[in-house]
Amino acid sequence: MIKIAVMASGRGTNLQAIIDSAKKGEINGKIEIVISDNPNAFALKRARDNHINTKAFPYRQYKNKDEYEQNIFNCLESYNISLIVLAGYMRLLGSRIIKEYRHRIINIHPALLPSFPGLHAQRQAIEYGVKVSGCTVHFVDEGMDTGPIILQKSVEVKQTDDEETLSDRILEFEHKLLPRAIQLFAQNRIDVRNNKVYIK
Ligand code: GRF
Repeated sequence: MIKIAVMASGRGTNLQAIIDSAKKGEINGKIEIVISDNPNAFALKRARDNHINTKAFPYRQYKNKDEYEQNIFNCLESYNISLIVLAGYMRLLGSRIIKEYRHRIINIHPALLPSFPGLHAQRQAIEYGVKVSGCTVHFVDEGMDTGPIILQKSVEVKQTDDEETLSDRILEFEHKLLPRAIQLFAQNRIDVRNNKVYIK
């Protein structure tokens, strides 16, 4: 069983998908802790309801980004975490954590990267007029949604879609893709060579 930390800033439906999948025995891992920058995140309540440890690091309570990151880093180390899952964590991770956990941090992004990185990916897709979008699970590197891609799923964009309807359709697939990627990691089936992912 690998030890997993999930970081989430908001409602936590992806966290819930991981919890449910783990309960069904589909993930050879245990969520040791859920970390948030937002003490009021609904994700933390979901964790507590499932008897998972939680820790909030309200960004403004720290002198600067370094101190904020150092506290999160210490927390991760204290739980002996082998995989960090960003599930709607709305801040960029600092270089210290990215370096120490290289190819051990994954993120879910609601678009087919490298299209539409950053915030409001679904809105970007609607505004561009693409006919297909989707979701991507990737390793986190120093860039914005640029790390090696692990899994992707395409999702149709309908011409009647708005940001909300498209987000809802993509979200259903996020909830399948993220637990699947976690399980691949837990089974040690992910190789990264030259910035590309190979599934064993
Ligand atoms: C998801 O759309 C995810 O792709 C993005 O942030 C959203 C988080 O949703 N990174 P939730 O908090 O998991 O419900």
